[in-house]
Amino acid sequence: MKKIQISPSILSADFSQLGKDIKRLEESGADMIHVDVMDGHFVPNLTIGPPVIKSLRKYTKLPFDVHLMIDPVHKYIKAYSDAGADIITFHPEATDNILETINLIKSLGKKVGISLNPDTEINTIEKHLEQIDLVLIMSVYPGFGGQTFIKEVVKKIRDLDKIREDKKLNFKIEIDGGINFETSKVAVNAGVDILVSGTTVFKENDGDLEKNIKILKQI
Ligand code: DX5
Ligand code: ZN
Repeated sequence: MKKIQISPSILSADFSQLGKDIKRLEESGADMIHVDVMDGHFVPNLTIGPPVIKSLRKYTKLPFDVHLMIDPVHKYIKAYSDAGADIITFHPEATDNILETINLIKSLGKKVGISLNPDTEINTIEKHLEQIDLVLIMSVYPGFGGQTFIKEVVKKIRDLDKIREDKKLNFKIEIDGGINFETSKVAVNAGVDILVSGTTVFKENDGDLEKNIKILKQI
């Protein structure tokens, strides 16, 4: 059976004690930490920048899975890399040159992810699939936690999984938005390897992180 990885989104953590919550996630079986970076322009919400990520780095050895929802993205890549990001994911709409942004992230020794909004088709990035480590499928319109899973994206996951198999590529498929104990199964069955979850991990079962992560991993 395929091993599912969980990347809890700290968007649903207690922002007054992010360090403590990240430590708790590590102790509860999280595989990485999903950090949602929003600029109030590419998406209608503002979150955290490099200094916060830098200050959180000492609380865990888990990889920081940094999801950049900022435009323009290219000029900020180095700052997020220096702050301690391990995986840097950007949206193709936020750069003038997808290949240059991929190469910049690689030159900094980081893993590269590209995120597809619900309305963005695979063909936007198809020629880059062999150059990247991860495709982050958005199953909500980015900007806020706690939204409902858009089930139309399941076909996109299946199509991407098929391309991966046909072309013998190695990128991971990650999904972000509206993941609960039911939609997690739908996503994994369609080909997802990594589940991002904010609300479900932090709020279900009275905030029992370990229990929630364990249930999400059960397919
Ligand atoms: C949305 C963010 C997601 C979101 C997931 O823009 O990218 O990471 O916080 O949150 P839930 O799991 O609450 O849908
Ligand atoms: Zn995200």
